[in-house]
Amino acid sequence: MAHDQQKNDLTDSEENILTNRQGHLISDNQNTRTVGERGPTVLENYNFLEKITHFDRERIPERVVHARGAGAHGYFEAYGTIGDERASKYTRAKLFQEKGKITPTFVRFSTVTHGGNSPETLRDPRGFAIKFYTEDGNWDLVGNNLKIFFIRDPIKFPDLIHAFKPDPVTNRQDPNHIFDFISLTPEATHMITWLFSPWGIPASYRFMEGAGVNTYKMVNDDGVAHLVKYLFLPKQGLKFLTQAQAEEIQAKNFNHATQDLYEAIERGDYPEWEFCVQIMSDDEHPELDFDPLDPTKIWPAEQFPVLPVGRLVLDKNPRDYFAEVEQAAFGTGVLVDGLDFSDDKLLQGRTFSYSDTQRYRVGANYLQLPINKPKTRVATNQHGGQMDFVDGDKGSENPHINYEPSSIDGLKEAPKSRKDYTPHVEGQVMRKKISRTNDYQQAGDRYRSFEKWERDDLILNLVTQLKKCNPDIQERMIGHFTEADPEYGERVRSGLA
Ligand code: HEM
Repeated sequence: MAHDQQKNDLTDSEENILTNRQGHLISDNQNTRTVGERGPTVLENYNFLEKITHFDRERIPERVVHARGAGAHGYFEAYGTIGDERASKYTRAKLFQEKGKITPTFVRFSTVTHGGNSPETLRDPRGFAIKFYTEDGNWDLVGNNLKIFFIRDPIKFPDLIHAFKPDPVTNRQDPNHIFDFISLTPEATHMITWLFSPWGIPASYRFMEGAGVNTYKMVNDDGVAHLVKYLFLPKQGLKFLTQAQAEEIQAKNFNHATQDLYEAIERGDYPEWEFCVQIMSDDEHPELDFDPLDPTKIWPAEQFPVLPVGRLVLDKNPRDYFAEVEQAAFGTGVLVDGLDFSDDKLLQGRTFSYSDTQRYRVGANYLQLPINKPKTRVATNQHGGQMDFVDGDKGSENPHINYEPSSIDGLKEAPKSRKDYTPHVEGQVMRKKISRTNDYQQAGDRYRSFEKWERDDLILNLVTQLKKCNPDIQERMIGHFTEADPEYGERVRSGLA
């Protein structure tokens, strides 16, 4: 037995004694093993090698977007209804059916653009990603705090992000790149109007809304679908920071939102959101001046009322940030029976992207990790890959039969208990944007509905950044704002004069 290892026969009272990962007790964690007290070090020093090589691998690739985040555990409590109707009218998803039904959840909030330790005071959309551990397996709802998005076609996403990320040469974020891309993307005018208003810097994660942004579907027992948008309204209220307030906080604290969430939960002041939906019949709605599948548009609440379905409460901090928050993997493809996709192109692009990046970022067996694993039984014939472990995915009771169908043994298909939802799709295959683009109407409506101080803040924030841009970029942006509302364009123009 090596001199720094002992037999591991700990009693209960010795449970906090340090060991290595082989279960060997560590009696000297201060000195490497050396030839004489002055060295050199010897190579067979297993404890040092294990410790330092693990340290060398402490990081996994961080998220390409939404790298900076904070998370918490909690629960969803259903009302059993959607507005005044029984939830079953619209969806057979089990988590919504009974009043008082509790579903455990994990939520990760984030900023989008910068790296894992960037300031939380930056003007940026905030992520609001929720994992519902339902009795039918996991449902992930990967949303943002603003109710819309910059683009409607997923092929533009890498370019959008490159324009917002630091310049690949100078490694500095450049407003000239941001507004260059945005000025050539008219559908972003609405999102930019929200983002450069006070809504672009929530006071902290507790004081912001959540929104699914994309249009999804709910499917009932008869196999009938409705279009649906998801919304979370903070019971703590909405609070934002002006640029000046954000800068004041940032000078002293660049973790204020993580701190606020953690401390509120530690003192028992559990943040809570009313979970709501908006519903539309499943068709193209030619009577509307926007396409219901367009993620750059809000469904007006006067026409499509915001209906409560339950409440989301966060009541437990993670024990280990890396294991729970960093390794958490959410994806728009992760739905349960009774919930479905719409034909929204952005949503379909996202659905490929999330699990793809997680197989790379976390590894092929990312779904075996406790934070990502459903709380229901998992049994597949998928085997192997880095870090596969036998209890992660039980497989068949007969471990010889890892295929299906089999006449010998092994896993069997589940009996079909519900009517399939079989949407009809036909059309020519093409590359074409949607015809009802209406890029400026809602941007103008939003500008006009802001209070005076919000409009002033919006103009100030835009002008400050646009001053750093090329004249032709400024002109194109003024053009978009003018289309939204002539006063909006005029105020940006005079601010730049
Ligand atoms: C085509 C459009 C989009 C693509 C391709 C895309 C792709 C991605 C990717 C690759 C990640 C990193 C995931 C990971 O490493 O675990 C991510 C994270 C995220 N995205 Fe998107 N995204 C898109 C649009 C959106 C939209 C519209 C929203 C809001 C509704 C959104 C919300 C989020 C959130 C909240 C996260 C962080 C999830 C977490 O906390 O782990 N994304 N996105």
